[in-house]
Amino acid sequence: MYTQSFNVPDGASASAVKAVPASQDPADAARQAHFDTVIDADGKIEPRDWMPEAYRKTLVRQISQHAHSEIVGMLPEGNWISRAPSLKRKAILVAKVQDEGGHGLYLYSAAETLGTSRDQMFDALHSGRAKYSSIFNYPTLTWADVGVIGWLVDGAAIMNQIPLCRCSYGPYARAMIRVCKEESFHQRQGFEALMTMMQGTAEQRAMVQDAVNRWWWKCLAMFGPPDADSPNSVQGMRWGIKRISNDDLRQKFIDATVPQAEVLGVTLPDPELRWNEARGHHDYGQIDWDEFWAVVNGDGPCNKERLATRVKAWNDGAWVREAALAHARKQQERALKEAA
Ligand code: 3HC
Repeated sequence: MYTQSFNVPDGASASAVKAVPASQDPADAARQAHFDTVIDADGKIEPRDWMPEAYRKTLVRQISQHAHSEIVGMLPEGNWISRAPSLKRKAILVAKVQDEGGHGLYLYSAAETLGTSRDQMFDALHSGRAKYSSIFNYPTLTWADVGVIGWLVDGAAIMNQIPLCRCSYGPYARAMIRVCKEESFHQRQGFEALMTMMQGTAEQRAMVQDAVNRWWWKCLAMFGPPDADSPNSVQGMRWGIKRISNDDLRQKFIDATVPQAEVLGVTLPDPELRWNEARGHHDYGQIDWDEFWAVVNGDGPCNKERLATRVKAWNDGAWVREAALAHARKQQERALKEAA
């Protein structure tokens, strides 16, 4: 459904977008020139390659935030595993939530290749210093929320993540290829679950519409602030980390979702949503950016609960980490003895 983004060309401004500012340090000039050549040629930067410190920092920031989003993103849906309406739905949901955990692990590994330890990243998350996606600070009130998270939240996530498969940093780009394949299944299972409910009772249909009403605007905000208020976009795009801007991805998501909503038989809660023939896109209403920033800054309905759950899981898991390390030490000792 969302694979078209693989083919989005960089457009006429591609060379301007890829230009990287020269290093201030003369000793780094040759390495900087090589880095710029690789970026300009749309090549990949690998962990052992030289890279400007700002590029490394930007990647650690984005990849670790992304990893945290996957891990925290397990919580709103995990909440429904014990209450799924059938064995089939439970099995699908368990698999999906496990996938999100796996995505977090690939992404932490990708960030580790940049010289940041997993402990440092967890510490930033658990102490509340690290960001994760605003969307996971909202509650899942009914079973329809699980379907809507698949359809809209995962749909928005794929729209944002498919261009990241072409990110200039190799380990991140390769991790995203697998993540996107799995996210595609997540999006489809959500749509199918909602379709089933829409063919059910009037109460089920109302439940779906209510969930769509509550999640729609939050999903649009997920793409991040408008381009004009996005401090990281210009540099991220120059470096080939970000390929499509926040506003352009948001627009692509809206244009792709409107026909899906029609097939499903739900309305999207925006009276200003309409096709604009001249632009070749849908116009849409105002996103509540004050609410978005309040949630990003820790004041959403579930921020405290989400963080407390992660910290508790980390503390409760201490004995597992200790046991795994003790086991690995024993195995290493045995291997050394056998080799001696
Ligand atoms: N929630 C929380 N913070 C957000 C945000 C959101 N939805 N959107 C933007 N922000 C933050 C940025 O992280 C940045 O904070 P920082 O400067 O303190 O690090 C600030 O707002 C300004 O935003 P920018 O647009 O300048 O930031 P970026 O250029 O990094 O763009 C992004 C933001 C589009 C989210 C980009 O970082 C990105 O593409 N990240 C990778 C994908 C990702 O993390 N997705 C999160 C959802 S994952 C998911 O949904 C899991 C799936 O299983 C459902």
